[in-house]
Amino acid sequence: MSTALSAPVPHHIAIVMDGNGRWAQRRFLPRLAGHKQGVTALRRCVQACAQRGVAVLTVFAFSSENWGRPAEEVTGLLDLLALALSREVPQLCKDGVRVRFIGDRVSLSSRVRQGLEQAEATTAHNSRLLLNICFNYGGRWDIAQAAATLAARGEPITEASLNAAMALSGVSDPDLLIRTGGEMRLSNFLLWQSAYSELLFSDKLWPDFDEAALDAAIADYRTRERRFGKTSEQVLAVPSPSLPA
Ligand code: IPE
Ligand code: IPE
Ligand code: MG
Repeated sequence: MSTALSAPVPHHIAIVMDGNGRWAQRRFLPRLAGHKQGVTALRRCVQACAQRGVAVLTVFAFSSENWGRPAEEVTGLLDLLALALSREVPQLCKDGVRVRFIGDRVSLSSRVRQGLEQAEATTAHNSRLLLNICFNYGGRWDIAQAAATLAARGEPITEASLNAAMALSGVSDPDLLIRTGGEMRLSNFLLWQSAYSELLFSDKLWPDFDEAALDAAIADYRTRERRFGKTSEQVLAVPSPSLPA
């Protein structure tokens, strides 16, 4: 790790927004109150990322495994998604945010699916920040569906072709991957794309993750030396001007 703030602001930040349930339980509130507060934290984070020049923000909102939660919580989360979409889209447009949903849509109800498609269509022309919302998403699902797509087309499976068939294709890999809520695991988030992401685990519960916490995470990221398998000397070497022949 080098000490100078040499790296630029991350181009792409990914976040596992964890800790909503505990935030609510500590206040003796139902878990859904934590998820509602989580929407507020996301709005704040989206605006802060746009202001700081982050180009892509990818957030984990609902995992393939979250269907296993109590039915009341799952229904509450689906209703909250629909409500948040209808309420937030005008502000997202004002802030220049384009929304894209990443995940398995086929198993969602047509009502939910239409909500996602409408939000994507309404924000499609915005270009200040791309917000990828991973909903009914799992990293293993994404790798498997990409491989199945290539197999169905009879195309060879290479790193490049798999990458292009992923649900999150078209954007560079996350530079910084943050998980709030204190757990130090990926929980099936961006398994393929996080190969060289800088990881940052915050003890703050997601509803408490504010601008100052984002700034601290970005400042920490900027002290990291990203080597991508090379040596520190190679990374630090300033390319010498080529000598005339
Ligand atoms: C993350 O918060 C949001 C979702 C998984 C939908 P949690 O609901 O997992 O919050 P904790 O981890 O129980 O506190
Ligand atoms: C990961 O959090 C999924 C989301 C934040 C949407 P979980 O709360 O589901 O993860 P585990 O169960 O603690 O690993
Ligand atoms: Mg959790």
